[in-house]
Amino acid sequence: MELLRLSAFWCGTLLLGVLLLEEETEAMIIKMRRLCKFCDRQPTSCTGKGRCKVACNITAICPHDDEVCVSIWRKKDDNVTFETVCHKPAEKLYGLVLEDYNNSKCEMKERKGMGSEFFICSCSQDECNEHIIFNEYMDSQVVAVILVSLVPLLVMAVLVITSFYCYRVYRQRHASSRRKKGFSDAHAIMIDDEGSDSSSTLANNLNHNTELLPIELDVQVGKGRFAEVYKAKLKQGSSGGEEQAFETVAIKIFQYEEYASWKNEKDIFSDADLRHENVLHFLTAEERKVQRQYWLITAYHPRGNLQEYLSHHIITWRDLWLLGSSLAGGVAHLHSDHTTCGRYKVAIAHRDIKSSNILVRSDLTCCLCDFGLALRLDSNLSVDELANSGQVGTARYMAPEVLESRINLENIESFKQADVYSMALVLWEIISRCSANGEVKEYEPPFGNLREHPCVESMKDSVLRDRGRPEIPDIWNNHPGIQLVCASIDDCWDHDPEARLTAQCVAERFDDMEYLDKLSDRSDSEEKIPEEIFVVDEK
Ligand code: ADE
Repeated sequence: MELLRLSAFWCGTLLLGVLLLEEETEAMIIKMRRLCKFCDRQPTSCTGKGRCKVACNITAICPHDDEVCVSIWRKKDDNVTFETVCHKPAEKLYGLVLEDYNNSKCEMKERKGMGSEFFICSCSQDECNEHIIFNEYMDSQVVAVILVSLVPLLVMAVLVITSFYCYRVYRQRHASSRRKKGFSDAHAIMIDDEGSDSSSTLANNLNHNTELLPIELDVQVGKGRFAEVYKAKLKQGSSGGEEQAFETVAIKIFQYEEYASWKNEKDIFSDADLRHENVLHFLTAEERKVQRQYWLITAYHPRGNLQEYLSHHIITWRDLWLLGSSLAGGVAHLHSDHTTCGRYKVAIAHRDIKSSNILVRSDLTCCLCDFGLALRLDSNLSVDELANSGQVGTARYMAPEVLESRINLENIESFKQADVYSMALVLWEIISRCSANGEVKEYEPPFGNLREHPCVESMKDSVLRDRGRPEIPDIWNNHPGIQLVCASIDDCWDHDPEARLTAQCVAERFDDMEYLDKLSDRSDSEEKIPEEIFVVDEK
């Protein structure tokens, strides 16, 4: 009986064990099935960007063992839906193979050609199709790529900026130590009136120092169409109790509106090859932001411009020779396409030669100034520059072809020929004030019978219609030198631009008159001159 009871107990225990095992296996099989959000299609406010949560309250046990969770986002017109389903990855869904079902998260990928905007994701974790990620993978990839490519660029930029900054600081310190040392090279540039050609770090360039030059403006000494000129003090070193040392300079001030004129003149001056004893010495250019002005800083010439000088002085033959030969020398240098050492340089046309644009230096030689209208005659002149080249300058001094706007823009020599015409009028003005002629009249500009600022039309009447030129009185031929200069003038203001002399030729003719100069210094114009001196050069 006891044995029976014992075997019944063991049978019961065994049976229970088997039953429990079966239940356990059942539970294990059920666990293999995925829990997924399963709402088929329903509208959503998810915009298809960033992260979204599907608004599906149904979590289903997927009917088959190996199914995964799938979410699909669609947009057609204004109709946006989410579809959440279970699906066997071995089978296509809407004709698509599920590629990402091993993921633990549902990361959306766009599929084209589905008839609407269509994003799909699949994943293999319970309810993993509830939280949807759009483009995150892409975004993080793009961010990583951008970061990787930007970092070296940023490092380079920082390096460049730092080295540039160090360089600027170094230059600034260097410049101010030069200034503190006492008078800089600028001294020579500004006051050496005798033609020394010493250089300055500032010359022919924009003042790149953030520090502006310590300049104190004095009186106004000139006024042009685009700018005013002031005498000024360029302070040197520190004041240190005693009166501060300074150099006298000239400042040409352009208001912001006249930027183009400042820029043109600055660019012309910036060509180191322009430097010549008969061209105004340029020191530097500055932008004065506070005053909304642009400045050109140049040598100062206390004798002022040639027109003022001739208005107040009667000159000797020697003065005439100095003024005339230096004027022709300056224009020849401007027009030349090579330097004195034979190196190539760009020829420049001044285009506004007149006595008020010529300064008189203390040794009574001339220097050309006001390059606001000057033109660099390089072979690649821009169309714009050529188009603006027709009629510029001052009507009184305009060559006939300029008055008519018939200058030959194809040939750069035409611009030089027009300058030579204007130069001839200035030479005439110089002679008109020379005592070697006998009686000297009051100063009058060329075509002095016309009003103060004759317009182009009245100049056309005089110069083109009447073929008029300033009068060369007979008594001017009494002096052999003046007679020669008059012959050159006549050749320089020829109606035909091609028939005019070059400035270089005029300069050489003046050189040939140096001998004459010495003779006429010894006695006056009556001096007998050897005949060969009167031979006039070929054009
Ligand atoms: N007028 C115009 N420029 C001048 C200068 N540099 N020196 C003296 N007078 C001037």
